[in-house]
Amino acid sequence: MNIVIKMPDGETREIEATIGWQVMEIIKNAGVPIRAECGGACACATCHVYVDAAWMDRLPPRKDEETDMLDMALSVEDNSRLSCQIVFEPELDGLTVTLAEDSL
Ligand code: FES
Repeated sequence: MNIVIKMPDGETREIEATIGWQVMEIIKNAGVPIRAECGGACACATCHVYVDAAWMDRLPPRKDEETDMLDMALSVEDNSRLSCQIVFEPELDGLTVTLAEDSL
C-alpha cells in the first residue's frame, strides 16, 4: 500500500504506507523532511498538507482541535489537513497529498 506525496516544487514521490500509522509518520519515515515539530500531538501545524480533491470525501472529517490548530498555519485551504491527524487505513491506499511550504 502506498501514498503519493507531492512536494511544493512539483516533485512527486510514491512511498510505502503502514496501516495504523499517522500519515505524518509515514512521510517522515520515508525520509521526506516534513517538520512535524510536535511529533503528532496536534499542537504545531507543521505537518500541514493539501489533500487531492479525489480524496477529500474519503477522509474522516477534521476534529475541532485540528481545525483550531490549522488556524495557526499559513495558506490554509478547504483541502488543508494536518497529516498527523490522518491515520492510514487500507481504504486510503493511493492517498495523494501535497506538502505545504511551511511544513518543510
Ligand atoms: S505534527 Fe504537530 S500538528 Fe501534526
